[in-house]
Amino acid sequence: MNPLTYAQQQQAQHLQELIEFLRLPSISTQEKHNEDVAETAVWLANNMTQAGIENVRVIKTQRHPLVYGDWLHAGSDAPTALIYGHYDVQPVDPIELWDSAPFEPDIRDNYLYARGASDDKGQTFLHVKAVEAYLKTEGKLPINVKFIIEGEEESGGESLRAFIPANKELLTANVAVVSDTGMPSPQQPAITYGLRGNCYVLMDITGPARDLHSGSFGGGIDNPLNVLGHLIASFKDQEGHILIPGFYDDVRPLSDEERALLAQFPMDEAAWLADTGAPQTWGEPEYTLVERIGARPTLDVHGIIGGYTGPGGKTVLPSTVHVKLSMRLVPNQDPADILAKFKAHVLAVAPPTVSIVFHQRGGAPASVCNLNHPAMKAAAAAFTAVFENPPVFMREGGSIPVVGQFQQYLGLETVLMGFGLPSDNLHAPNERFYLPNFYRGIETSIRFLAEYGRL
Ligand code: BES
Ligand code: ZN
Repeated sequence: MNPLTYAQQQQAQHLQELIEFLRLPSISTQEKHNEDVAETAVWLANNMTQAGIENVRVIKTQRHPLVYGDWLHAGSDAPTALIYGHYDVQPVDPIELWDSAPFEPDIRDNYLYARGASDDKGQTFLHVKAVEAYLKTEGKLPINVKFIIEGEEESGGESLRAFIPANKELLTANVAVVSDTGMPSPQQPAITYGLRGNCYVLMDITGPARDLHSGSFGGGIDNPLNVLGHLIASFKDQEGHILIPGFYDDVRPLSDEERALLAQFPMDEAAWLADTGAPQTWGEPEYTLVERIGARPTLDVHGIIGGYTGPGGKTVLPSTVHVKLSMRLVPNQDPADILAKFKAHVLAVAPPTVSIVFHQRGGAPASVCNLNHPAMKAAAAAFTAVFENPPVFMREGGSIPVVGQFQQYLGLETVLMGFGLPSDNLHAPNERFYLPNFYRGIETSIRFLAEYGRL
């Protein structure tokens, strides 16, 4: 039997295994789930071993374990692909908006609903099943393969960032393959060639030492929530231009070629807007929508904790407020430099009535992939064969910190073979994975390994 036939025959079994994988609540950002994350690593390692992958190990780190495995018997002439994915997932709240429980996978209309279904358990697992298809039929792979699967991507990826430079030998390869992105529609496959970076900041803003009655103290003592309002207003103008001094200094301007490539991207702006439910699109008027969401830097506030938010009213000046925000970065912006500029701006604008403590969570540079790498051609051929349509090349506004780190520490180029859809509800209630894309993803991975082995 050949690997493609095997994958087809095993569809029901592979789905059952993915469902088991999805039942494990591996939320990396919440400490109460640390045991679940560890258990998920072990589950994945066992599954990889059963698939025939060798040297499978769960590697302890400062936080969440890594899972490594390889199969390296294709010979020294054959290239080596390093397949990366993440088995951790985002938190589930607001839980009341889920139509089925996030860790009780449910199939409706050809979609598998569960937290992590698309981001990234489903997309990681399809490569494990593709490798299994070869090893259970032909007993060998067309190329050498290494897997490195992390459990911390959704919370900054610090442990893997530290692991890479210390384990260059272990991770050495000719290309990295990552399925943690998407395609515009089930008929239109895509290869993402650019990702934005990220600089995530938390701030604690403290005024008085305790909450104060706003009648007795209001007007005489400043309110950290009001201060936060002024601060946020100072970050951007109403068209989305960031006002932090020096923020754009290192931004590499978009070349005419890049703008032309982005303009080719088949985006239905009306449908995209309708899907968001927002009244209208927004952003820097001198850039197209595709450019704004993939190739321009941004700043967004993600959460504010402060003051009284319970039922009814309460007249209080809060002592401390907390805010979470992040900046999406584009090529040549350095996360550490941007953080320094952000802090300097906040400290210059904030009044002396409050004190501010900063916490940074990870930091990832943007990355742009080499479109001429042979593995890109192999991936394009594999997509074309499976989807009967050649892939478009797109830039993604999200971040996958490891892609820049592979470039930086290992000189390793990445091919981003994404199988998610825009309606997958990543990081949101009712996350889902389009099941035909799970099976086609396995097939694409099988064909990619063959194509890359032929080049
Ligand atoms: N899979 C996403 C990246 C992504 C987002 C790809 C949207 C395609 C479309 C990844 O798991 C992710 O969400 N990364 C975080 C990284 C951050 C915490 C540094 C992100 O982009 O917010
Ligand atoms: Zn992801």
